[in-house]
Amino acid sequence: MKKIVVIPGDGIGKEVMEAALMVLNALNLDFEYEFAEAGHECFQKYGDTIPEETIKLVKKSDATLFGAVTTVPGEKSAIITLRRELDLFVNLRPVKSLPGVGGLFSGLDFVIVRENTEDLYVGLEEYTSEGAVAKRVITRRACERICKFAFDYALKENRGKVTAVHKANVLKKTDGIFREEFYKVSKDYPGIEAEDFYVDAMAMYLIRKPEDFETIVTTNMFGDILSDEAAALVGGLGVAPSANIGQKTGIFEPVHGSAPKIAGKNIANPTAMILSTTLMLKHLNKNKEATLIEKALKKTLKKGIKTPDLGGKHTTKQMAKAIKKELLKIKNSYSNQG
Ligand code: NAI
Ligand code: MG
Repeated sequence: MKKIVVIPGDGIGKEVMEAALMVLNALNLDFEYEFAEAGHECFQKYGDTIPEETIKLVKKSDATLFGAVTTVPGEKSAIITLRRELDLFVNLRPVKSLPGVGGLFSGLDFVIVRENTEDLYVGLEEYTSEGAVAKRVITRRACERICKFAFDYALKENRGKVTAVHKANVLKKTDGIFREEFYKVSKDYPGIEAEDFYVDAMAMYLIRKPEDFETIVTTNMFGDILSDEAAALVGGLGVAPSANIGQKTGIFEPVHGSAPKIAGKNIANPTAMILSTTLMLKHLNKNKEATLIEKALKKTLKKGIKTPDLGGKHTTKQMAKAIKKELLKIKNSYSNQG
């Protein structure tokens, strides 16, 4: 029995979570769900955006599903606190084309593996008499473990190539170390091609020939920027899932936030959350189940059953129900074949 913590959060977080659970439940998995609170409504209730109780549950879980939270200036960010507390050093963003979602390209299938704990995002900024200075922290240990994760992921997913992205021509020491560790790690994976690109060139290649990439691994800030660019290639926020992964557990969440303007209207696109559950399933070595959900989702989209953000006229619940129906159909056709 796997322990799954469910944090719906605020706004459309709750709606897309309900939809995702409806689809997941059709699989009859050996999961035990525990609901936990976090976010702005949680703050209004308990004076804390991320109660100790929630952190404890997440730490003990096999995986956590996170909807989205509203972050109000002055309140602690629930998701950033969780990433830090659990040392979730990987941010994984698949970039996969789906039918009928208006992506700039079709047929794409690559992942971006972003280091999630250091780089310029450690927050070491200070004012100087002339302006301000920010420190960029890059450690060999973090470079090694993120590169190792990328190669292991490529191996697991049968991806033939890993591309490192950096700016070592300018950031000679910090990105020099990243590139060095990347090629050191690559030696343990002789079956996988290793290559590297400068980040500015990569920003261009992602638009010119994104089909060239299979697994991209990079430092925190470059990963932040490139993954948003890549999301646009395949349809944007409503369909972009992500995973935060550590040594033991992981948190699986859509890239989007709580979208207060459309919250409560039953029109949020559940796709990003549903795809985040497939990342969780893969993390728990349930690849077959993950593929089933992906297939059902694609069939549903192909039929034109989609939410208004994708130009459709269906509600969140109607879309979830349609995906569940397709899922059960595919499942039954498999079992009929014996
Ligand atoms: P947002 O992602 O919530 O919304 C941006 C735009 O995309 C809005 O127009 C929204 O309606 C649309 N959108 C997003 N998800 C959608 C979906 N599933 N279906 C249809 N349309 C969708 O970002 P925004 O507006 O900047 O932030 C709103 C709140 O969410 C803020 O409090 C922000 O701090 C928080 N946030 C939380 C995140 C998290 O929980 N990890 C991530 C990003 C923002
Ligand atoms: Mg971002």
